[in-house]
Formats: sequence, C-alpha cells, structure tokens
Amino acid sequence: MDCEKDTILITGGTGFIGSHVCYFFLKKGFNVVSLDSLVNSSKKVNKNIDNLLLSEGYEATGNLKFVKGDIRNKDLLRCVFNDQLKKNKPISSVIHLAGLKSVKQSKLNALDYWSNNVCGSINIFNVMKEFKCNSIVFSSSATIYGISENPLIKENEEFKPQNPYGKTKATIEKILEDIFEESYKSMRISNLRYFNPIGAHPSGMIGESPNTTPENLFPYILQVACGRQKELNIYGNNWPTHDGTGVRDYIHIMDLAESHYLALIHLINNKPQILNLNIGTGIGTSVKELVNIFESVNKCNIPFVYKDRRDGDVSICVADNSYSKKVLGWIPRRNIQDMCKDGWKWMSKFPNGF
Ligand code: NAD
Ligand code: WQD
Repeated sequence: MDCEKDTILITGGTGFIGSHVCYFFLKKGFNVVSLDSLVNSSKKVNKNIDNLLLSEGYEATGNLKFVKGDIRNKDLLRCVFNDQLKKNKPISSVIHLAGLKSVKQSKLNALDYWSNNVCGSINIFNVMKEFKCNSIVFSSSATIYGISENPLIKENEEFKPQNPYGKTKATIEKILEDIFEESYKSMRISNLRYFNPIGAHPSGMIGESPNTTPENLFPYILQVACGRQKELNIYGNNWPTHDGTGVRDYIHIMDLAESHYLALIHLINNKPQILNLNIGTGIGTSVKELVNIFESVNKCNIPFVYKDRRDGDVSICVADNSYSKKVLGWIPRRNIQDMCKDGWKWMSKFPNGF
C-alpha cells in the first residue's frame, strides 16, 4: 500500500526517540502531527528536524505539525483528531511514544507513572476508538522482561518487571491485548520492545536532550565527555560477565526509528494483528567495553570509578531479534562504533542540548 501523505500522530514526538521517528516518517513522505507536553524535551527540535530534511533535499517543511499538549487531556486529543478530520487529513495511525521513563523516579513517584503512562495511554486508545483509528505502534521496553535466565530474550518470555516504570509498560501491553480482543481482532497493533537505544542522527542535528541529569549510561558518558559531569560511576565490577560490568544490547537510534516505519507498513499491509517485537541488535556490550570503544572512536578520555551495583539492575539483557528481522525484514545496520561516533557528534554540536 502507498502510504505517502497519510497523516500519523506521533505522541512524545519531541523526545529522543520521537524526534528521530518524526524525521524518519517525514522523510518517507508522511504528514506528521507531533504531540508532546515538553515535560522532558524542547520544541526547538522541530526546527532542527525541518532543517535536517531540507539539508538532505526533502521539501518536508509544513508536513510536520507540532501540538503542545498532554496525553492525559482527552479533550485535547479529540481536538487533534477533529482538526485533522476537518482538514480532510484524518489521522490514520498512531505511533505512541509519550511517557515518563526514569526507573528511579518511578519508584519515588509511582502514582505519577501510572497516571502519566497508563491513564495517558488509555486516553489515546479511547480517542482512537472514537475516531475509528485502528493502527498503533507502541513503544514498549525490554524492561518488561525483568530478570531472565536466557542469554538471548525472546518475545514469549514471561513478563517480570522489577519497577513501577516497567510495570506500566507491561500493563499497557496487556490493555492493548484486551483492546485487540474487544475489537474482534480488527485492530493493527505492534508493541516494539526496545532494548537500549543510543546514538543520534549522523548529522548531529538531533539527539538526546533530557531536561534533567540522565540516569542511562550513554547520555551520561556524553556528559562526561563534554565536561558537564566529572566522571562516570560504573555500577558494579563483579557481575557474572566476562569483565564484571553489566552487559546490554545497544541499538542505534536510526535503526530503531526505522523499525517503527517497517512495523507500521507491515501492520497496514497485512491482516489485523497484534505483533510483539524485540528491537535490539542481538549483540551484548559491557559497560567497560562501551567506555573503551567510545574513547577510542572519539579520541577522548572518560574517567570512571566503580561503585556498588545499582538496585534492580540485571547482569545481562540482550535481544533475540530473529523474529523482528524475519517479520519486518529489518536489519540493524549500525554498529557500536557508529553509535559512539554519532552520539558524540550530536553532543559536540549541542553540548547543552536544545
Ligand atoms: P524522552 O523522555 O526523550 O521522550 C518521551 C517524550 O514524551 C518526552 O518528549 C516527554 O516530554 C513526552 N511526554 C511524557 N509524558 C507525556 C504526556 N503525558 N503527554 C505528552 N507528552 C509526554 O524518552 P525516549 O527515550 O524518547 O522514550 C520514548 C518512549 O520510549 C517512552 O515511552 C519510553 O518509555 C520508551 N522507551 C525508551 C527507552 C530508552 O532507553 N530511551 C527504552 C525503552 C522504551
Ligand atoms: C546500562 C548499563 C548499568 C548508568 C534502562 C531501563 C530500561 C530502558 C533502558 C526504558 C547497566 C550501567 C548505567 C551509569 C552505569 N529504558 N550504568 N553507570 O538499565 O539497561 O535500562 O534504560 O525503557 O527500561 O531499565 O540502561 O543505560 O541505565 O544501564 O554503570 O551511570 O550501564 O548498571 O549495566 P538499563 P542503563
């Protein structure tokens, strides 16, 4: 099916992942409505997305419409859908990325996480139903698997989320399962379970720009590299891994962005279904390896100290991505060196973010 000029709603569209996903869909010719409360992002990113597309020869300016708003505001969501209907450009699909993502904050403010992530998602699903919008790609997380015995995690692994944030993601997936049944299996749903997305668009024009000090490893390394943080704390050097530090499946943000496009096209072109997909490379990298590669690719020094293990961490979390590759024909192309190089390019250009 030719989807060019379809209009999609991207919630969380100014965030780290959302900005790259917006860029990807605009480049493919979609009209994009990006909705974000800006609680963890800046609308300045929209200008950079436009400039980036123009620099690549795409006449996409005007195809990106930004709405500042909260997914917990159902009336606002209705307005967004209605406005598009009046313009004869109805929203045909939703890429739902809006959400709070700090594991630590989710333990301190559990109710905020349930309200924001789960109540907000229920609003989206309700308004989609009202407007007969049946296709959704949802940003889930590998965190739903929790502690696993398997070296490579498959999609049929039991959910064992270890913190409120992970529980909200697992719950939203469960709700989507029920909605699928309620719709007599007429909906098209894809849960993308991201592993550890890092890096930036290779131009360095867009990248991760959190409003607070990052908790995740890669954005923290970037802040150490540019002098915003003194040193990196490495949480544990006694994990049962080859060098004692935690192993994760880092995936380049551009490969991750592409998976949203491929997932949506797959949903549109196939029978209604609910599709759960791991989005990772299948390759594990330890904290120490990531630091070493970052230093060697970017010719810089990342001072670090070893600290105790972080509460709730697991030793290894790596995707079995064979199902995603098979179903979507998706191939993560960028390696860990590309992730380090592109992430640093973004940080060197915008050391203070947007
Ligand atoms: P991010 O914080 O950069 O982006 C999330 C965006 O959602 C932000 O721009 C924020 O302002 C917006 N937002 C939050 N609550 C909102 C609300 N109620 N209404 C409207 N907008 C709201 O984070 P990200 O890394 O881009 O993550 C995007 C999604 O992917 C999140 O749902 C996150 O849980 C999920 N995810 C992220 C990772 C990761 O490591 N980055 C891994 C797995 C899943
Ligand atoms: C990676 C490794 C840490 C920071 C979390 C969420 C998950 C997903 C991705 C959203 C671990 C170590 C980290 C630091 C360190 N997000 N580390 N020093 O824990 O795999 O996953 O983010 O869904 O849900 O749980 O990612 O980047 O925080 O940690 O040593 O300052 O780096 O112990 O081994 P994680 P991370």
